[in-house]
Amino acid sequence: MDSFPSFSTLIRTASHEQHVEAETSTFMSDLLGGRLGLDAYARYTEQLWFVYEALEAGAGALTADPVAGPFIRPELFRLGALERDLEHLRGAGWRSTLEPLPATRAYAQRVAECARAWPAGYVAHHYTRYLGDLSGGQIIRDRAERTWGFAKKGDGVRFYVFEEIANPAAFKRGYRDLLDTIDADDLEKQRVVAECKKAFALNTDVFRALGEEFRLSA
Ligand code: HEM
Repeated sequence: MDSFPSFSTLIRTASHEQHVEAETSTFMSDLLGGRLGLDAYARYTEQLWFVYEALEAGAGALTADPVAGPFIRPELFRLGALERDLEHLRGAGWRSTLEPLPATRAYAQRVAECARAWPAGYVAHHYTRYLGDLSGGQIIRDRAERTWGFAKKGDGVRFYVFEEIANPAAFKRGYRDLLDTIDADDLEKQRVVAECKKAFALNTDVFRALGEEFRLSA
């Protein structure tokens, strides 16, 4: 029997409140408001590197998994784009100064743990990041281009550009269909929703830490 509402609706609704919280966090508001310097944007991009490293290093072993496998799509992979952005932002030696905040380390560790031991939990993290990047990420890109003068869809904002996804709206529809047909029973779906909330909380923790590091003087 089909459960109602659909799982894609359930997971979106369940995380809505936290989405608003993340979107309106001090760090994001300041970033989108053009009130922070390039260094804050670079530091944020560095944090993303750790998260996507965990998401994508764990992806290969999951391609044949019945639950997570259908979600693993190379056109989503962001690590290469992040590395090009970081080279642009920090220079050729970007790796030598790359350092996760404690909150970022905790986030990446949780993603890696799910990738290793709980494929459905990995899906929660996958959804939280990639569907967000395909959506609100475009707003962040636009703002970053205007604030720091990056070339449109060029170095510095390649993370937000999905070169191989011609129609993001159609891709998101397909993604929601995958969520709706996920090979998991209702109890497992509830656990995935809980993990998605945790994923949002982990993001908010990173924003909080970045907000403390890049506090605007009153
Ligand atoms: C200032 C920052 C952000 C803005 C402006 C923003 C904006 C948006 C917008 C406009 C959508 C469109 C949804 C649709 O297609 O109908 C969206 C979806 C989404 N966002 Fe964000 N967002 C932001 C931050 C975040 C963060 C930090 C996360 C989590 C890490 C996130 C996760 C998501 C997810 C998972 C969706 C897909 C919801 C769904 O359709 O199931 N967003 N966002």
